[in-house]
Formats: sequence, C-alpha cells, structure tokens
Amino acid sequence: MKVLITGGAGMIGRAIWKKLLLDNTYVDIIVTDINSFNQDQCGGRLKFVQGDLRDLEFCKKITAGVDTVIHAAGIKGSPDTVRESGYLFFLNMNRFNQNVIDASVQNGVSKFVYFSSIGIYSPCELMTEDLAWEGMPSKNDWLPGWSKRIGELTVSAYLGAPSEKCKTKFIIVRPANVFGPYDNFEQGAMVVPSLIVKSLQSDIVTVHGDGTPIRDFVYSEDVASMTLNLLHNFSKLENGSAFNLGSGERHTIADLVSCFQRIFPAKTYKFTGSVNSGDRCRVLDVSKIKGVGCFQSSGLHSALAATISWATNEKSLGRDYNVFRS
Ligand SMILES: NC(=O)c1ccc[n+]([C@@H]2O[C@H](COP(=O)([O-])OP(=O)(O)OC[C@H]3O[C@@H](n4cnc5c(N)ncnc54)[C@H](O)[C@@H]3O)[C@@H](O)[C@H]2O)c1
Repeated sequence: MKVLITGGAGMIGRAIWKKLLLDNTYVDIIVTDINSFNQDQCGGRLKFVQGDLRDLEFCKKITAGVDTVIHAAGIKGSPDTVRESGYLFFLNMNRFNQNVIDASVQNGVSKFVYFSSIGIYSPCELMTEDLAWEGMPSKNDWLPGWSKRIGELTVSAYLGAPSEKCKTKFIIVRPANVFGPYDNFEQGAMVVPSLIVKSLQSDIVTVHGDGTPIRDFVYSEDVASMTLNLLHNFSKLENGSAFNLGSGERHTIADLVSCFQRIFPAKTYKFTGSVNSGDRCRVLDVSKIKGVGCFQSSGLHSALAATISWATNEKSLGRDYNVFRS
C-alpha cells in the first residue's frame, strides 16, 4: 500500500512521515512539496518528489496508484501577513486544494485526509465541530478561513457524488495554533516561532500586543499522532467527518511568555501594548477526538522546550520557497 503526504517538507507533514516510517502499515511513503529538504532519510520505503500542487497534471501523476492521501500542504502566517497578503493564501490554497482532491478522486484513492484549520470558525469561546458553518470566519482570518472552508465544501460535494464517480472516503482535520520543529521561523512567522527566534537572538524580547488573547497551542508531534490515530480508525469513522486537533488547554499569550521566561530566565520580555493581535479567544473543543480514543497531548511547557532545543541546534531556520517572497 502507498501513502502520499503533501506539504511533506513542512512542519506537520514532516512529523507525519517520520511517524509513518516507524509503522509498517504502508510499504511506500511518497512525500511531495514545492520546497526541498535534506533527503538523508529518503531511500527504501521513503521517496521525495518535488513539485507544485497548483499544477493539476503534477497532482494527477503524484496521486496515481496511491491508496491514502494526507493533504497537509498549506500556507500559514501571522495576523499581519493575513492582513497584508490575504489574497496569496486564498488564490494559492484554493487552486491546490481543488487539484489534490480532484486528482485523488479521479485516481480512485481510498482514504483522504484534508487539513482544514481552526480559521474556519466564527469567533467564539469554544469551537466545537458542529459550529463550523455558524457565522463567518473571523475578519482576522477572512481569506485563509474561507479558503479552508471551500476545501471542506469540495470534500462535501464529493460526498454527494454517486459511488461509481467517487470511491474516495474523507476525513477533515482542523488543527489549532500548531508549533514545533521545521515551523516557519522567517518574517511573518506566527507567535511561537517568532518568540523563539527573538529569544535566541536578543536579551530584550518584545512581544506583540498586551498578552491577553487566549490561544490553543498544539505541538506538531501531537497533531501528527492524532492524524495517524484517526487514519488507523478510518473504517469506523463516518465519511466526511471533521475533527478538531487541539491541545485541550487554553493559554493567554502572557502564559506562553511565562513559559519562555522559565526556559530563558536571563531574558527580559516586554509587551508592546494594545495593538490588533487577532481574535480575543481561539480555542478548540477536543471532546470529539477524545471520544474516538485518538487524542494526544504533550503539554505546552515540555513541547515548547523540545522545539526550542531543536531550533537552538538547527543551522538554518529558513526555507527555499516562501509564497510571500516568491
Ligand atoms: N501551523 C498551524 O498553526 C496550522 C493551523 C491550522 C491548520 N494548519 C494546516 O495544516 C497544514 C500543515 O501546516 P504546516 O504548519 O505544516 O505548514 P507548513 O507551512 O510548515 O507546511 C506546508 C507545506 O506546504 C508546502 N506548499 C505550499 N504551497 C505549495 C504548492 N503550491 N505546492 C506544493 N507544496 C506547497 C510548503 O512548501 C510547506 O512545506 C496546512 O494545510 C495548514 O494550513 C496549520
């Protein structure tokens, strides 16, 4: 059996294929990305194919003969990046989501995991899966949120197709604020990688905003484990069902900064004061994934310490391809 992981050079995609290598379910693991990476681990069961998923012909080629697709390619950025370049999220993600889903269905892929996002929800205290289509995505995540919703709609359109036209079964996963090794640490990065870079480079670290927004920070390793747990239970899950992938914890940015302070006791952290740093609260309800026995959490402090230790030893935190500067 063959599995394809899109976005395989990214943070979550890498965590997924590394775990798949430790499990013998799939004989062949195909990883694809527009970015390249050190391919020391390739060979044997693991193969890397570089390419652009905006190209439908490439998507058709890469999904041929594949049993399972984990579609983890995507574009991410801080609220500032969303404000300045929302169109890039929207136009690129719409194009490649449609291509990857269509090509997978045409090639008769059996199982498909679509990576959606917390960004599809309308702002509220606790985001449960059933609220996905209540209200609109936040203005702070407007175009990325709609783009992820359109991907979900594409999945639901195929659920309504006759079985001879679509043999593919889907699940949808909606991660919260993910962090971990191989995150985007460049300009426009999200809060955790941005604080890691600043903490490694300066004695006085400025923190955007006043520390009050509440977030759900989830470790990439946990997101990968939860995704693979769902995949192992695929036959028991309803076709098209959606699962939140959160940490089960709510933390203010000030809590996060306290964790950094414990790891870097000699640094001084200073908040810039009230500026628009996104929605007041973004936390996922994780009851549904707990209910199917697929939940996993490492806890904020130890996951953060592991990520910082990785970043401290990593020579280059940059990427070859970045949609915001290409
Ligand atoms: N990181 C988060 O906080 C978060 C939150 C919610 C949802 N998600 C979703 O989870 C998935 C994985 O996220 P991640 O954090 O690993 O992101 P990432 O940016 O680390 O990885 C995504 C990968 O997709 C690749 N990619 C982008 N455009 C491409 C194209 N045209 N062709 C081929 N590859 C392309 C990028 O090169 C990158 O390696 C994405 O769909 C993302 O939207 C992430």
